[in-house]
Amino acid sequence: MNFKRSKVLYEEALKFLPAGVNSPVRAFRQVGGTPIYFLKGEGCYLIDEDQHRFLDFCNSWGPLITGHRHPEIIRALEKQLNYSLTLGTPHYLEIELAKKVIEPIQKEIPTIQKIRFVSSGTEAVMSAIRLARGYTGKNKIIKFEGCYHGHLDSLLVKAGSGLATFGQPSSLGIPKSFSEQTIVLPLDSEESVEEAFKKYKGDIACVIIEPVPANNGLLIQRKEFLKFLRTITLENESLLIFDEVISGFRVQYSGASGYYQIHPDLVTYGKILGGGLPVGAFAGKKEIFSMISPDGPVYQAGTLSGNPLAMAAGLAQLNLLNESIYKDLEDKGQYLESNLKKIFEEKLPEFSIVRLASIFWIYINSKKEPIRRADQIHSDSMSIYAKFFHHCLNRGIYLAPSGYEVGFLSTPMTYQDLNVFLEVVNEFKI
Ligand SMILES: Cc1ncc(COP(=O)(O)O)c(C=O)c1O
Repeated sequence: MNFKRSKVLYEEALKFLPAGVNSPVRAFRQVGGTPIYFLKGEGCYLIDEDQHRFLDFCNSWGPLITGHRHPEIIRALEKQLNYSLTLGTPHYLEIELAKKVIEPIQKEIPTIQKIRFVSSGTEAVMSAIRLARGYTGKNKIIKFEGCYHGHLDSLLVKAGSGLATFGQPSSLGIPKSFSEQTIVLPLDSEESVEEAFKKYKGDIACVIIEPVPANNGLLIQRKEFLKFLRTITLENESLLIFDEVISGFRVQYSGASGYYQIHPDLVTYGKILGGGLPVGAFAGKKEIFSMISPDGPVYQAGTLSGNPLAMAAGLAQLNLLNESIYKDLEDKGQYLESNLKKIFEEKLPEFSIVRLASIFWIYINSKKEPIRRADQIHSDSMSIYAKFFHHCLNRGIYLAPSGYEVGFLSTPMTYQDLNVFLEVVNEFKI
């Protein structure tokens, strides 16, 4: 493939945008080469500036469960354009979207009682953490190595030396005094969580976890571990926050909370909730939400929060989701998984696939045991992923440009599309 126009655009972008992009992983640094500039999305395809068409497994990092520009979402946006771009006032669609989230999910997860909309996943997590601290009157938060919760200061933190010690900033620009309030623990370890609760007794505001960690590979947790987090937070009067920015409406409508039947105090949403527009939200118990401004003393606000176009897109998106869509995605997921496994066994023994619902991760690790912790990922295998990525790219398959990122299925993908991908994988040689 000749990426002539992408290369020209990249040179132009470098003059104005750092690394030519607005979010780091888009710069292709993990896989080498220069980023591709895309013109449009159509169903499950992406079309670049050089008019190449790619089957899109990146799906804008998760939101596009029904593919690009679903006609129902476009229709809802066109309708809303006749009314407003932004109002900065309360409006009807905010109530409709809130109902669409809360009513069905509450039947399964009774702790989902109130919701506030924001404009990104990062903002949702930042607000939920502040609310947890304000509600409990405690300072410290526990997060897990290998989970990503957006780029807020208090969560861009990596483990310190030794278990249950203060975290270290994982980016410059974050004061140590911030990261010292964050305790970073390994996933899949009840003992570490127990130790942290013992060590910082009475000062842990919340435990935050991606219940389906999908930002550092796909590190599917044991249900017992997630249930243990529910128990220990209740015992210590700390809150449990499930970050469902990826898993919400993806694993099933009620997300991982519904899948595992665990009732967190707060849940954060994003991605699918906005139907392709910038939306995040945090939701949870009424009693906790009584603390948020203007009802309570925990301040939180946003000029574009509840933006009418974003609410219209989100509502149209959620209206499209039903049992048969999740069943279809599960069937296609099973088909992809079992056929990839066959190819890997026969031809690429170093390769593995792990999948939950329509989220999958292809990784390189000849040991076949399940990977549940970030430190089990081999960073030296990433050069093989880079080769695999470019092999696929040059044959019209767009995977995430990093071996740490997962892939997503979308409803417009057909079995024929999946077969094209399988054929491309089948041709790959390390
Ligand atoms: C689980 C999780 N939480 C939070 C975020 C941050 O969301 P955003 O990029 O919309 O700020 C992400 C983004 O990938 C995410 O995957």
